[in-house]
Amino acid sequence: MNYQPPLVVGHAKSTKIVIVGAGSVGVTTAYALLLSGLAAEIVLIDIDKNRALGEVMDLSHAAHYAQAKIRVGEYVDCAGAAAVIITAGVNQKPGQTRLDLVQTNHALFENIVPQIVENAPDTILIVATNPVDVLTYSAWKISGFPVQRVIGSGTSMDTTRFRHELGRHFGVSPRSVHAVIVGEHGDSQLPVWSLATISGMRLQDYCGQAGIDYAHDDMEECARKTREAAYEIIQRKGKTNYGVASVLVSIIEPIITNGDAIMTVSRVGTYAGVENVSLSMPCKLNRDGAHQDVPLLLNASEQEALRKSALSIKEAIMSVEK
Ligand SMILES: NC(=O)c1ccc[n+]([C@@H]2O[C@H](COP(=O)([O-])OP(=O)(O)OC[C@H]3O[C@@H](n4cnc5c(N)ncnc54)[C@H](O)[C@@H]3O)[C@@H](O)[C@H]2O)c1
Repeated sequence: MNYQPPLVVGHAKSTKIVIVGAGSVGVTTAYALLLSGLAAEIVLIDIDKNRALGEVMDLSHAAHYAQAKIRVGEYVDCAGAAAVIITAGVNQKPGQTRLDLVQTNHALFENIVPQIVENAPDTILIVATNPVDVLTYSAWKISGFPVQRVIGSGTSMDTTRFRHELGRHFGVSPRSVHAVIVGEHGDSQLPVWSLATISGMRLQDYCGQAGIDYAHDDMEECARKTREAAYEIIQRKGKTNYGVASVLVSIIEPIITNGDAIMTVSRVGTYAGVENVSLSMPCKLNRDGAHQDVPLLLNASEQEALRKSALSIKEAIMSVEK
């Protein structure tokens, strides 16, 4: 028998992941991470220690099945962590945009990030707190880390939602759709229609071959549903947690396994001529962080939309920069 053991087994033995923020996103991520088998040890840090302890007591019963350890910790426990995921912060209320959260969550990062850096100067920071692009920039600035070691979950969530919508529309698995959302994880995000494919064919060509109509309005509707998904979910249940937790684990996986997976994550750089801003473009993820080795080929109108997105994030960054 030519049995190939799963790649993650050897890595899990020594991998510690810290999650700062044991609220909905943090705890759901901890649960997804536990079940993934990627980490040997998960540490949860929260200002509300009692709540974190309750979550850990519950999660440790799931850890029994995953053969991993989970515990409440302090910032000293960041030492030796392969990655620290930051999910601490206030959440959107119905009707609020992500950018409405910026002042509160930036102030929180000024407290949290130095404590992580002091204890884990070589770790990789993964930011989920919103507005994620602005806070990825904040985490980079406060930490002094190289850009590749500060990664925002960015539009990896939106790319997932976009593939889900397109997959549903065309009646194929979302995994068979190659399409990305880039720019802001927020209202100025943009779908890269020029590079969207199914089965290696551009969407119009796929429709032509499949004998179905390609309707521009339907595509716009898929992009709208992607952009507005979080608003609708928050309106109905007050938060989003399962999608983002799965996305965070899929970002962690290539970091732990040195997997070189390409995902749309947020990273500080220069985009469409706008300097020192963080937004999402496809990045290669591995144990050294997020790398933008191959620039995305955008057409002129996509470049223009990217520039608008970058400028809107930059404005929010300037509002918190002293
Ligand atoms: N990037 C994404 O795709 C995405 C998706 C969903 C939510 N989010 C964002 O994630 C953040 C968390 O959302 P949530 O639903 O888990 O909120 P939540 O209110 O359930 O949890 C936030 C947690 O942060 C903790 N906290 C607050 N200040 C802290 C501090 N100084 N140190 C440590 N912990 C602290 C709170 O005690 C709480 O447990 C929000 O900003 C939300 O907008 C991002």
